[in-house]
Amino acid sequence: MDIFKRIAEYNAENEKLAWSGTFRDYIELLRKDPSPAMTAHARVYEMLKSYGVEEIDGRKRYKFFEREIFGLDRALERLVEEYFHSAAKRLDVRKRILLLMGPVSGGKSTIVTMLKRGLEQFSKTDKGAVYAIKGCPMHEEPLHLIPHELRPEIEQELGVRIEGNLCPSCAMRLKTEYGGDIENVLVERVIISEENRVGIGTFSPSDPKSQDIADLTGSIDFSTITEYGSESDPRAYRFDGELNKANRGIMEFQEMLKCDEKFLWHLLSLTQEGNFKAGRFALISADELIIAHTNEAEYKAFIANKKNEALQSRMIVMPIPYNLKVSEEEKIYAKLIAQSDMKHVHIAPHALRAAAIFTILTRLKESKKQGMDLVKKMRMYDGEEVEGFKESDLKEMQDEYLEEGMSGIDPRHVINRISSALIKQDLQCINALDVLRALKEGLDQHPSITKEERDRYLNFISIARKEYDNLAKKEVQKAFVYSFEESARTLFENYLDNIEAYCNWTKLKDPLTGEELDPDERLMRSIEEQIGISENAKKAFREEILIRISSYSRRGKKFDYSSHERLREAIEKKLFADLKDIVKITTSTKTPDENQLKRINEVTKRLIDEHGYCPVCANELLRYVGSLLNR
Ligand SMILES: Nc1ncnc2c1ncn2[C@@H]1O[C@H](COP(=O)(O)OP(=O)(O)OP(=O)(O)O)[C@@H](O)[C@H]1O
Ligand SMILES: [Mg+2]
Ligand SMILES: [Zn+2]
Ligand SMILES: [Zn+2]
Repeated sequence: MDIFKRIAEYNAENEKLAWSGTFRDYIELLRKDPSPAMTAHARVYEMLKSYGVEEIDGRKRYKFFEREIFGLDRALERLVEEYFHSAAKRLDVRKRILLLMGPVSGGKSTIVTMLKRGLEQFSKTDKGAVYAIKGCPMHEEPLHLIPHELRPEIEQELGVRIEGNLCPSCAMRLKTEYGGDIENVLVERVIISEENRVGIGTFSPSDPKSQDIADLTGSIDFSTITEYGSESDPRAYRFDGELNKANRGIMEFQEMLKCDEKFLWHLLSLTQEGNFKAGRFALISADELIIAHTNEAEYKAFIANKKNEALQSRMIVMPIPYNLKVSEEEKIYAKLIAQSDMKHVHIAPHALRAAAIFTILTRLKESKKQGMDLVKKMRMYDGEEVEGFKESDLKEMQDEYLEEGMSGIDPRHVINRISSALIKQDLQCINALDVLRALKEGLDQHPSITKEERDRYLNFISIARKEYDNLAKKEVQKAFVYSFEESARTLFENYLDNIEAYCNWTKLKDPLTGEELDPDERLMRSIEEQIGISENAKKAFREEILIRISSYSRRGKKFDYSSHERLREAIEKKLFADLKDIVKITTSTKTPDENQLKRINEVTKRLIDEHGYCPVCANELLRYVGSLLNR
């Protein structure tokens, strides 16, 4: 790759975005398409929509989030619909601070960062273009130049809404540089950029004593104050606080409730009236979406304080709970590992799943439903079917507890445990057992786990372990059965011959002696029992298979070993039961004979080639399953 060519292309692309003209040109532009005049809230909402919206079961899924946020569809739908969408329509919520409230490491900061990056990108597109008065420290909307009395007419003419006043700096320049000639005021396109401090501001509380309000609202410019003589001369003021810079975009308040109260009061008028006070100036208009985040404990302390009532009523609190789906949790871990310095390590199949099972269990609350337990609930939440329960049960459980997902183990803790296990043992590959062990040890080190919780959590670790044992056995079983594929096929054909004879009241012919035989009931049952088909249900099951076969043959398709999911499972299980001794011996013997060695190599190869194992974890798996079978 020619790096400098690429850089030149990149610069050229950015230059193409450049636009400058007069206010008159800008008005012409708005006549064609008024969208550049939209509010910051609307721009964020348009940005979200521009990535696409899917509708699944009447729920909206905003694809914008799907690259980085997993399992929070419900919370995100609510966030977008109740806040961004309504705010974009200029409903009252826009005048409130958006407060994301949720447990530690639940993705709040990630969501805000995504919004910021998304807005930056969006401002480079046609639809998201932002124009500003050239030279304005707050890159303000040029329409502010229009005198208030004329606004209603012009709004009508252009199909826009005009809110806010010229900033002190532009008001002065309009007089001094342009002689009041609005038409010729220069306008330019701006690209939102946190790095360049355009349209994105971030504030995080520091020591309350040293924290300066100037960080938010700008400050007197001591280098020019003597020249201009007065603090109320805009040329002697730096409009470079975060609130100034965030104009037209997003203002992020990190750990907002840790802020000193006097900082928060500034936000009151900003959200309510769209302006804030700075220095000796009249109120300064700002159009920005304020997002803050905090955890539940801080939020509770905040609302408990009567003094905060006014502020509280100006906030919209959106819960951002933990993900509650095992398979989505796995994706979170995979993402975090890919971002970390352990990406070279091999993660054995099911290792992340085992961890996720544990973590999700710590987050779930026991349902009051008859016959429901945490493991079943966990499965249903993850989209699996659980016998005896319906879709409506799932919905009811999801609404059973408001605070479900607000506590439990956080993803970062899991990743920290995995990485410390890797470092401590200098492993090249980490498997489910290593992970569970690391999590178990971590229970003592987690700062906020009580003794009582610890016991509950230990139990979850053993549940996760059991789940893993089943997965491990199944995997080895499959790999073995595969090397016995011939046998599986024979057993399958044999079963079909038998059920055919059974259903048609006929006899089978012994291929060797030609002798007539009754269908082998024991053989059929030994297969069917593997998948829990009762004596009463066997006839229906057999008939269903025959119907399936004839419908296959009518369509000219061959019904084979893998055509019927349940039958295939039954055959594999039966074969595995028959093979159990072979597997047991093969996987646990210290001195395998030639034949066993050959089989082990075949199975290992299959695990590596087709199931994502490396030589290390494939061998560990075989040994582990061997020990399980020998118990
Ligand atoms: N649901 C999720 N989907 C994807 N990643 C997630 C999810 N929840 C947490 N993470 C990841 O976990 C890490 C911690 O999340 P983040 O820092 O955004 O949380 P936070 O809510 O801001 O936490 P804190 O309260 O500690 O500031 C991030 O790398 C984030 O990407
Ligand atoms: Mg955070
Ligand atoms: Zn200005
Ligand atoms: Zn491995």
